[in-house]
Amino acid sequence: MPNYNIATLDGDGIGPEVINQGIKVLNQVGLKFGHKFRFDFAPVGATAIDQTGVPLPDETLELCKRSDAIFFGAIGHPRFDNDPTAKVRPEQGLLRLRKELGLYANLRPVAGYDELTHLSPLRPERMKGVDILVVRELTGGTYFGDKGRRDGGDTAYDTCVYSRHEIERILKVGFDVAGKRRGKLTLVDKANVMESSRLWREITREMAANYPDVELNFMFVDNAAMQLILNPAQFDVIVTDNLFGDILSDASSVLAGSLGLLPSSSVGSKVGMFEPIHGSWPEGAGQDRANPIATILSAAMMLDHLGLVKEGDAIRNAVNETLASGVGTEDLSPSQQVGTNELGDLIAGRIG
Ligand code: IPM
Ligand code: MG
Repeated sequence: MPNYNIATLDGDGIGPEVINQGIKVLNQVGLKFGHKFRFDFAPVGATAIDQTGVPLPDETLELCKRSDAIFFGAIGHPRFDNDPTAKVRPEQGLLRLRKELGLYANLRPVAGYDELTHLSPLRPERMKGVDILVVRELTGGTYFGDKGRRDGGDTAYDTCVYSRHEIERILKVGFDVAGKRRGKLTLVDKANVMESSRLWREITREMAANYPDVELNFMFVDNAAMQLILNPAQFDVIVTDNLFGDILSDASSVLAGSLGLLPSSSVGSKVGMFEPIHGSWPEGAGQDRANPIATILSAAMMLDHLGLVKEGDAIRNAVNETLASGVGTEDLSPSQQVGTNELGDLIAGRIG
């Protein structure tokens, strides 16, 4: 029986309770399909700061490096958010993890569910056919460029730096996945202003020659923000840099009606990381109110990445069936409202 070792970093706030539902569903998949998943827990984020003083302890990083995949809950705590002088922040743990593990490609799929179009902030007709994959570069750009203060602290700067190598590898992910989807790639940038964007465009044009079946478009990020609201169905794969991707993926994530539905994967090197898009929602922690679906669908992306595609499909089907039956957590205003734990049970019960 194949064994998979999963580094489980459940993190802060609602992280642990949504991860528990993911584990429940994965164990059920294991039973049905004959796999054994081993979950090794390690602290990250505010929880790790409380326990060890740092947001990503070395032991956590080492565990991640020797595992087959990383299953990640959420990080963040308000006591750090409003303190600009805080030297140690939970988010640093996530950024270091991405960098150290070479997780340069962040995939965030956004698709509407027919049963839930009434939850979307957009009119139902605008949500028809929406199926977007945001491919965000995750280990470069403004997040990791030279930053600091000068002039005695009164001037601050963050630099957006990209090398050809970094751009090529993320575009390869984008072109490859576009070829397997509807064959449309939109590069989102700010090439009318930024030199780094002009390099992205140059390289994208060069690479497009190798992908004759992919239709390529360029769009400035300000226009893209608007188009995502006006006509989201026009997009298939969006490829963009780290900062633009952060912003646009949050914007697109609400189209589906609830942040609680959207999974993500971060890949690049051998070990991938799989996590819900939503944050740690500290106010909801421990109350059995959080929607576990984003985490459960992240587990499905994890299985795909491990080559277990029919197992991943089994999870997606179980989620679809459960939503279609009218059950859900409070964020979905369902006809039958249940808690986090029960929703996890119901989804696990439909695996097979
Ligand atoms: C995300 C988050 C992170 C980011 C934060 C928590 C550092 O917003 O994964 O999108 O900005 O990348
Ligand atoms: Mg973000």
